[in-house]
Amino acid sequence: MPKKNANLHNAKIAKNDEFYTQLCDIENELRHYKEHLRWKTVLCNCDDPKISNFFHYFAYNFEHLWLKRLITTCYKNQNPDLFSQYKSEKAVYLIYDWDKNWNNIPDPSEIWIHALKWDWDFRSEECIELLKQADVVVTNPPFSLFREYITQLVKYNKDFLIIGNMNGITYKEVFPLIKENKLWTWYKHFWGWMDMIFPKNLFNPEKVKKYTLDNNWNYIVNIMWVIWYTNLDISKRHENLILYKKYSKEEYPEYDHYYAINVDKVSDIPCDYDWVMWVPITFLDKYSPSQFEILWTSDNWIIDDKYKRTPGLTKKFVDDYYRAWWTGSYKEWNPTAWYYDKNNIARMSYKRLFIRRKK
Ligand SMILES: C[S@@+](CC[C@H](N)C(=O)[O-])C[C@H]1O[C@@H](n2cnc3c(N)ncnc32)[C@H](O)[C@@H]1O
Repeated sequence: MPKKNANLHNAKIAKNDEFYTQLCDIENELRHYKEHLRWKTVLCNCDDPKISNFFHYFAYNFEHLWLKRLITTCYKNQNPDLFSQYKSEKAVYLIYDWDKNWNNIPDPSEIWIHALKWDWDFRSEECIELLKQADVVVTNPPFSLFREYITQLVKYNKDFLIIGNMNGITYKEVFPLIKENKLWTWYKHFWGWMDMIFPKNLFNPEKVKKYTLDNNWNYIVNIMWVIWYTNLDISKRHENLILYKKYSKEEYPEYDHYYAINVDKVSDIPCDYDWVMWVPITFLDKYSPSQFEILWTSDNWIIDDKYKRTPGLTKKFVDDYYRAWWTGSYKEWNPTAWYYDKNNIARMSYKRLFIRRKK
């Protein structure tokens, strides 16, 4: 496993939207959704089938998954390969319906290629028409457009399984969906990192310090904070977390800025506390809506005033924070989660959720 500082470095270069998903990661997550995909039209609308493993996975497993249709959009499809013989400067979309000659391979002759009039942007009119035809959308969209991407899926009422940055949990476009149980996270235990393929033409060894090569000589970099988001109902979200710790005032202090107790580790959530708890966002990995309700998040002002003791960072906290030699650019009233630790040192907390046990 790459070292932690390399992960952080790779997270910075992850602003680049061109990270491709490994086939093994698609297989590992998708194997839990066979029932959800049966007789469904799947759309991959942020994919280049020449390199994307999403098209590869669905085309090769088409019969195994009992799919109805696979549609994928792509741009400037110039290099002929297995999936496409189409040489064009224009955007195209591909349709695959079934393995007509039963050779277990999606041959080029079985893939219909249609030109898109404008471009392959998922927001374009033509791509929205394809979206309307789809039952389930599965892809890894550009991280920089994640908010717009998920908003569009919700607007068109689509089922989806998509990859995104873990920080997205507290986005104002995303968090309300999580709170209302319209969106949740993947099957995998919440490590929050993924090994991804860095396209050869964009690879710069000066910038990417840590990488490995896969069997096809692709550059593989470890990207932190990457998870799957879905609205497909999975069994994992109906499994209750087994709680064993008892609440005590000393162990679970109520902090100065919110009316909630602090719980640093999800496994330490007390079994006998009925009011509001402040937990790490990794809680989502263990979240069962019949056991807990999610109330608010500490970021982006998505918290009801009744849980706040102060509207944001206090001046005293900001002064204490910089006096402790921490870095960042925080100002009074910023809506971030903050606290004083057991040694009374001012600290900024990573994104948190406010939850309450259901009675
Ligand atoms: C993070 S990459 C993921 C590629 C692929 N889904 C995978 O994981 O292997 C995002 C892809 O979206 C494409 N893309 C970027 N902007 C887009 C847009 N506005 N509409 C549709 N696709 C876009 C990029 O060219 C890139 O291929």
